[in-house]
Amino acid sequence: MVTDEALIEAARAVRLNAYAPYSHFKVGAAVLTDTGRVYVGCNVENASFPLTVCAERTAIGSAVAAGETRIVKVAVITDTEPPASPCGACRQVIFEMGTEAAVIVASLNGHRHDTTIRALLPEGFDGSVLRR
Ligand code: THU
Repeated sequence: MVTDEALIEAARAVRLNAYAPYSHFKVGAAVLTDTGRVYVGCNVENASFPLTVCAERTAIGSAVAAGETRIVKVAVITDTEPPASPCGACRQVIFEMGTEAAVIVASLNGHRHDTTIRALLPEGFDGSVLRR
């Protein structure tokens, strides 16, 4: 069983690999899937700024590449107080893979806020409308 602390620690560790030479704002994310595995990601910036990919989305990309599409928990860590919440785009991508996902936003100095993707993305678009 993966504890919240272990999930946060995985996000903390991968944050060090963030490629953020423009913003210098490093983000780490770890997602726990319904098989109990953990996948990590960090933000990957680009000189063409809009091509930047957030940590949450690189983590989810890793999960999907491994054949996993059901996310039950996400931990995101930043060096900010209060901890930074996932951006709107990442909320939508988390929702796609886990409409009931728990979300932990954490800071390097140990603070955390526990929420859910439902709270972060109320009345979210889940794609069921496309399956007709
Ligand atoms: N960033 C993330 O990695 N996740 C978010 O949810 C918000 C923003 C990154 C993108 C960019 O590299 C940096 O933080 C500043 O926006």
